[in-house]
Amino acid sequence: MDQKLAGKTALVTGASSGQGAAEARLFAEAGAHVIVSDVADDAGEAQAQAIRDAGGAAQFRHLDVSSEAEWASVIDGIKADFGELHILINNAGIPLRGSTATNTSLEDWNRVLSVNLTGPFLGIRTAAPLIRDSGGGAIVNTGSVAGVVGHFATAYSTTKWGLRGITKSAAMELVDWGIRVNAVHPGLVMTPLVESSTDFVQALADNTPMARGASPEEIASVVLFLVCEDSSYITGHDIAVDGGFSDFGGYDSVLKQVMAQPDQNI
Ligand SMILES: NC(=O)c1ccc[n+]([C@@H]2O[C@H](COP(=O)([O-])OP(=O)(O)OC[C@H]3O[C@@H](n4cnc5c(N)ncnc54)[C@H](O)[C@@H]3O)[C@@H](O)[C@H]2O)c1
Repeated sequence: MDQKLAGKTALVTGASSGQGAAEARLFAEAGAHVIVSDVADDAGEAQAQAIRDAGGAAQFRHLDVSSEAEWASVIDGIKADFGELHILINNAGIPLRGSTATNTSLEDWNRVLSVNLTGPFLGIRTAAPLIRDSGGGAIVNTGSVAGVVGHFATAYSTTKWGLRGITKSAAMELVDWGIRVNAVHPGLVMTPLVESSTDFVQALADNTPMARGASPEEIASVVLFLVCEDSSYITGHDIAVDGGFSDFGGYDSVLKQVMAQPDQNI
């Protein structure tokens, strides 16, 4: 594979599983030195080991993204051990599909916001100075279609809409530091985050124009594009990677329903 990230150091949060793990593997194949971080230590160590076994460069660092102290410690450690950081992927996230505006406890609300929204804020604030001092680089925030169209899960959706605000304001602020900031917004992705919700997964796949969920690798390849020189003139941008769901999923479902009628009257 093209060594598009040769000489780069990349930190991926939530990289023990799913999309973060796929991004860590792909970045390493593209020549980056990858810091795999997560709260799931054993799985993260195993991901880093698998990358090394495949000939790549990777280390695991424990990082709870909601902790200001842990961010400081991880970034200080990267500075001490590698001297440089060029790429930050704010990928870690937790779902709360059952939460509505009227039934969500304050505890649940704060928990989801602390990981999905405060986490990326702390990440950008802590990592950006080192990325600047390393000659610039790129940050990608992992949002969701839940932050592109209206969504039923109040706390989760709020975090993903909020990420779009951080993406644009940080992109504006950091452009003079040589740091590009963008966001990907996945639709359905077949990872542990959704695997227990079989009815939801089926219904979402049925209402996605491409009629399936993405593999983690299909998101990772877009994230790779956003952190390498191929996207050198893109910043502050939101990219939905969702099989057409947010752009025309509603009308696609309407059309299929109408066309299924024996005497359709369109
Ligand atoms: N799977 C989907 O359908 C889907 C769709 C849209 C957006 N997303 C978003 O994609 C991102 C990645 O999710 P995934 O699908 O790969 O799920 P996943 O559950 O496979 O991976 C999430 C990872 O985040 C880690 N994590 C949880 N809390 C953490 C914390 N406080 N600090 C650090 N790490 C933590 C978990 O241990 C796990 O390894 C999330 O932000 C999620 O909201 C997922």
